Amino acid sequence: MISKIRYGNPVPTGAVVNGTADENGKGQLRYFEKTEQGFRYRMEKKDAVYGLGEANRGINKRGYQYISYCTDDPNHTEEKLSLYGAHNFIVIDGACTFGVFIDNPGRVTFDIGYERTDELNIIPEYEDLDFYIIEGEGIKDIVRQFRILIGQSYIPPRWAFGYQQCRWSYMDADAVREVVDGYENCGIPLTAVYLDIDYMESYKDFTISDERFPDFGNFVKEMKAKNIHLVPIIDAGVKIEDGYDVYEEGTAKGYFVKDREGKDYVTAVWPGLTHFPDFLNTEARRWFGLKYQALTDKGIDGFWNDMNEPAIFYTERGIDEVREFLKAEAGTGDISTDQLMELKWKLNELANNDTDYKAMYHNMDGQTVNHDRVHNLYGYNMTKAAAEGLAELRPGERTLLFSRSSYIGMHRYGGIWMGDNQAWWSHILLNLKMLPSLNMCGFLYTGADIGGFGSNTTRELLLRWLALGVFTPLMRNHAALGTRLQECFRFEHTEDFKSVISCRYRLLPYLYSEYLKSVYENEMMFRPLAFDYREDEIAVNVEDQLMLGNEVMIAPVYTQNATGRYVYLPENMTMIIMHENGEEEKELEKGIHFVEMPLNRVVFFVKADAKIPVVGTDYGRSICNGTMEDIAVSRISWLGKQDKGYRMYMDTGHSDNKKDDVLITEF
Ligand code: NOJ
Repeated sequence: MISKIRYGNPVPTGAVVNGTADENGKGQLRYFEKTEQGFRYRMEKKDAVYGLGEANRGINKRGYQYISYCTDDPNHTEEKLSLYGAHNFIVIDGACTFGVFIDNPGRVTFDIGYERTDELNIIPEYEDLDFYIIEGEGIKDIVRQFRILIGQSYIPPRWAFGYQQCRWSYMDADAVREVVDGYENCGIPLTAVYLDIDYMESYKDFTISDERFPDFGNFVKEMKAKNIHLVPIIDAGVKIEDGYDVYEEGTAKGYFVKDREGKDYVTAVWPGLTHFPDFLNTEARRWFGLKYQALTDKGIDGFWNDMNEPAIFYTERGIDEVREFLKAEAGTGDISTDQLMELKWKLNELANNDTDYKAMYHNMDGQTVNHDRVHNLYGYNMTKAAAEGLAELRPGERTLLFSRSSYIGMHRYGGIWMGDNQAWWSHILLNLKMLPSLNMCGFLYTGADIGGFGSNTTRELLLRWLALGVFTPLMRNHAALGTRLQECFRFEHTEDFKSVISCRYRLLPYLYSEYLKSVYENEMMFRPLAFDYREDEIAVNVEDQLMLGNEVMIAPVYTQNATGRYVYLPENMTMIIMHENGEEEKELEKGIHFVEMPLNRVVFFVKADAKIPVVGTDYGRSICNGTMEDIAVSRISWLGKQDKGYRMYMDTGHSDNKKDDVLITEF
């Protein structure tokens, strides 16, 4: 049962699409009390709190605070309160089990036992919101009901389940060719290469540098002939430059975000001075979405939308403030150390400054709305613009699309990647922890920058991260400018990378089937053990293993120099030690085991009574590349015990199907 309580006059967010909520649900606030600042729930000792999508810290969120405010911050250290997404859905599980969704696109603080260990306080900055309470038969049912409420998750083309390589940036076509050849020469499967900002002309969206990528259309064809998809980035900011059509049209049509006086708001991002398209305006959204045609016309079938929190490097206001400071101080002769420190502080304050967000205005189809009140809708609507444009430009065809910033509702239009992580062991674990929380909020097509975006990776770290990435729907290696080259073929013993990445293709029928199942049945593809083994005291405390589908458990290594790790088996399972050409199986009993995990193997666990489909690496590659709708039964082998059947979901892999078009086979 879902009840909704409305406060004030909320801005429509589009998060909820299947509204069967009981509008007269006033009584449902009974779990919470209204406080001056927001809403308070008194937690019992054993209550756990799950959710919040892309957020820091544990799977059980209790014991810290989190702020929903989409933020461009590349240093995901533990104390950070906001990351790129705003996903205001939690499930409180314990004395009472129920879900809460706060549909409000401004800043919302979730203090989950931080100020007071026994209190959950939800504090919205603007109290215009819809407060949903979801009750059901246990946690999985609550999540299912919530997922139905917010609508069906995005399905990418099947090729987007292959292994993908990114770097900021492959500077020209030859650099891309080098990467493709590097992988090909050592036999490591590869499905996509990303084009980061340097493929553009002066960082102008929807342009291609002729000098670095001459004859782009033919280059796309050349790559397609090798089964490589090119995936260009699109940034939120539009360069201010006379003669640049996107800028000129946007200005003429009034499609950019405005300042207080109604003038086009000026900020700076990669291209220098820019305007932000007003994605909250229906016409502007359509206009921007159709601009993707510049690239789809050249054969492009995948995009990533970036810098859409939106990220701001500086504004004229900020720069003027620094100038004023310098002018005032310059009069006093030598600048003191204290003054220099103040200058440093002022320079740090230039980026993503609240004062700037508060000075931006949207035209929400006739209504002027201050940006700060709707901040969390910006990246969401950029991706909605793209998805709707691409649906018109490529009718009936799926396009790979994912975003950095998001709000619940965006999960219907595209996926997300987890943003700028670091080549740190702890970020493998953070990657794992975000998966179930994101699934709760409908975000299924997701993954982290494998190997780590910032700082230099190591061979061992990359291999361990890949062994987790084998299971994440988006499996993409990405690294920042200035870091060590991170493509797998750059390291010693490339056969180890080949072995691990090949497992992804071997598991493709299972992973793709589980993905479709999660979409169509509103299930979580990844679940904490606590959701499945509710009475098992050890299982409910496990935060470094996950259930995948109804058959598999994963437990990746996330520490340096480890030869294996301790794994908790909540029931008897078969351990699979997989490599490119086969696997070993070993029966293990319920309990704690130290399990050897060689660097060149993918180790996971299948429930004792379950089985999963696997194929040979080459066949897996053809499933990924091809357009076949069903998989030849003779090519499948099964891992695990045979006594429990498996329902395999399969579809064309590329067309924009409905649930009815899915082929479900009972094995
Ligand atoms: C920030 C993104 O998070 C990152 O993935 C990308 O490489 C850089 N922008 C440059 O475009």
